[in-house]
Amino acid sequence: MSEKPPLLPYEWPGSYYIGEEEIEAVTRVLLARSPFRFYGSDLQHTVEQLEAAYRQRLGRAYALAVNSGTAALSIALSAMDVGPGDEVLLPGYLWVSCISAVVRTGAIPRLVDIDDTFFMDPNDLERKITPHSKVVMVVNMSGTTGHIDRVVEIAHAHGLRVLEDTAQANGAAFHGKPLGSFGDMAIFSFQLNKNMTAGEGGMVVCDDPALFDRAVALHDLGYPRNAEGRLVTDRPDCQLWGQGSRMNELSAAMLVAQERKLDTITAAMRRLNHRLYAGLAGIAGMQPRRVLDPAGDSGPFALLIWPDPDTCQRMVAATRAAGVVTGPLGLNNIPMTEWGLHLYYNNVSLTQKRGVNSAGRPWSDPANTFAADYTYTRGALPQADDLFGRTSLLSVPPALTDEACDLLIGLFRQAAADLGL
Ligand SMILES: Cc1ncc(COP(=O)(O)O)c(C=O)c1O
Repeated sequence: MSEKPPLLPYEWPGSYYIGEEEIEAVTRVLLARSPFRFYGSDLQHTVEQLEAAYRQRLGRAYALAVNSGTAALSIALSAMDVGPGDEVLLPGYLWVSCISAVVRTGAIPRLVDIDDTFFMDPNDLERKITPHSKVVMVVNMSGTTGHIDRVVEIAHAHGLRVLEDTAQANGAAFHGKPLGSFGDMAIFSFQLNKNMTAGEGGMVVCDDPALFDRAVALHDLGYPRNAEGRLVTDRPDCQLWGQGSRMNELSAAMLVAQERKLDTITAAMRRLNHRLYAGLAGIAGMQPRRVLDPAGDSGPFALLIWPDPDTCQRMVAATRAAGVVTGPLGLNNIPMTEWGLHLYYNNVSLTQKRGVNSAGRPWSDPANTFAADYTYTRGALPQADDLFGRTSLLSVPPALTDEACDLLIGLFRQAAADLGL
């Protein structure tokens, strides 16, 4: 069956809202001829403004802007001194960056199952903690979270730190507390697909001054800087190896403007998201993702759990044929099994235990022999495997009109009726 023309607009959320404010902010940096954050002829301190906005938004003591979410993860893990001999617990629903950040420190990733919130299952976390566990990385996927309070409680009770990846849930909250304020450290991404964007960018936040100082040194050249932006080499606690991940003033200018729109962007997606879930609710056998706090969901995705994989595939095929698709670049209305490197078992470098060098580190490191039996292929996480197999994923573009949303609901209901659901 050939597909009808796309019904869905797919403006990536943040970029859909780019307007005069971003243009003005970027122009100010250009006219000042000062695109570097630490010094320049007429420095505008725009990265600092963005960091201040994040401290305030999240109620956290420290915020450090960096050049990607992937870099933010690496910096945070190294700030927490993760390395060979350690393992980082992380969920099966994630993004490849979460895994690569662990592997690149020389530590071992240890998979934890998810529950029907699509967030780490606290019960499986308790089962998976070992004497080698050092950090629990939680990932607030597809706009919202799960039992994050319980997971943090378990981690802390075992003396483990929590790194909270909020790349996909910027602007979300859990019972009134912003996501990104639960972990000992948290990170954000400002890449194009995210709720606000500068094309690229990231943020690391925390409350512990020692972690922050280490993150500052790690994101730059391995040393902190003084008020004039010059490197300080007489701080023994901060003589590290840096990774060249500074944010520039142009990105920050865009992001300062985008941060001011973030609540508008997420409110628009959340409203449509609720409309969609409410409209689809009557379909027999379809269970929406369990969202523990719908008011805190930032809204960019709806996850629909079908009774079995075959029904899932047939519903996606029928609704796609009816036009529930986006343009060629958009990923929308797909079975989750096609969601690429978001699923642990699709990460071939993980399933094949590829190393970061030809010696096969970290898997070959003598400090990591404890992990020799760890496996990462499909089957490692039964609950995740079951959910991935029968869930479809629909993105919720903020530009979707109510009429298009209702049309889409009608097409789903028709397809379900045709399939006898
Ligand atoms: C959950 C998650 N973590 C981390 C990242 C990495 O962010 P970036 O693309 O900015 O490196 C992403 C981005 O796609 C993500 O979805």
